[in-house]
Amino acid sequence: MRAFRAARALVLAGATLAGPMTHARAAPVKYALPEETAAYVPGPDLDVVQGSCGACHSSDYVATQPRGLADPKAFWTAEVTKMVKVYHAPIDDADARKIVDYLVASYAR
Ligand code: HEC
Repeated sequence: MRAFRAARALVLAGATLAGPMTHARAAPVKYALPEETAAYVPGPDLDVVQGSCGACHSSDYVATQPRGLADPKAFWTAEVTKMVKVYHAPIDDADARKIVDYLVASYAR
């Protein structure tokens, strides 16, 4: 029984030592990042939108919102307000108005 325990301890020690050695010999992982496919559609004040909305998430968040709403201005005003109030996006009122106009013109239908 004692010999068995000693053998088991040796096996465990061997496994522990082999771990880091295997890791050190591993080749660095290289992979190509996918192309950024999502982009805001062209429009007036696009630079403001990219600068204000691009920091936290991709334009997919905008592109996947519902279209053909009865009041797209109210919808986008609420979205931009939420980004500022809830998620603390640093966007002043003048830029927020430009962004809402852009979103209504570009993503309403
Ligand atoms: C400070 C970070 C930040 C900035 C800047 C930001 N957002 Fe967001 N946005 C978020 C977070 C966080 C969510 C919620 C993500 C989730 O639920 O997975 C979100 C979600 C959204 C959604 C999905 C619907 C929703 O209400 O959750 C839309 C649309 C959106 N953002 C639009 C915008 C627009 C337009 C701008 C620029 C005016 C903007 N965001 C800027 C953080 C930000």
